Amino acid sequence: MQLVTGIITISDRASRGQYDDLGGPALKQAAHDYGWRVLVESLVPDEKAEIQHAIHQQIARGCQLVLTTGGTGVALRDVTPEAVREIAVRELPGFGEVMRAESMKITKNAILSRGLAAVVGNALVICLPGKPSGAVECLGFVVGAIPHCVEVLQEVPTSC
Ligand code: MTE
Repeated sequence: MQLVTGIITISDRASRGQYDDLGGPALKQAAHDYGWRVLVESLVPDEKAEIQHAIHQQIARGCQLVLTTGGTGVALRDVTPEAVREIAVRELPGFGEVMRAESMKITKNAILSRGLAAVVGNALVICLPGKPSGAVECLGFVVGAIPHCVEVLQEVPTSC
């Protein structure tokens, strides 16, 4: 199953052009390496309404999986978890638990991460850290469960 994927970079500074978006391209490369099809990429500031709009837009365009990078930390402008929870059907706590547990082996700052996964419409939304290497690492920690999760949400018959 070739997952149809959307990528959203959430960053005030990157969206203002103050620095290059490195997280989006890093996730795009990772998605390609997993054999997924990246359909759409977006770049939005740390604003709840804009984050929610970008997610809804990507799902409406056919994305089964939406990967976000940024806005999961402790800074007061970091609102990605709040934005996603407001539009989610349900949260999938295991993703955040595993991302934090595995990331703690790499950096003690991982305890500050509020990364999560949730179901929005019939899509899986995974919110990853803003640091490009951290986003790719966290995706790698949970990638094993993604195809089955997407199949279930898309109501594709599966073996388990
Ligand atoms: N997770 C992994 N695997 N690798 C990392 O380098 N960086 C951490 C953490 N999670 C990191 C990681 C850091 S430095 C922070 S502050 C938090 O994620 C939150 O990141 P964000 O605010 O950029 O979203």
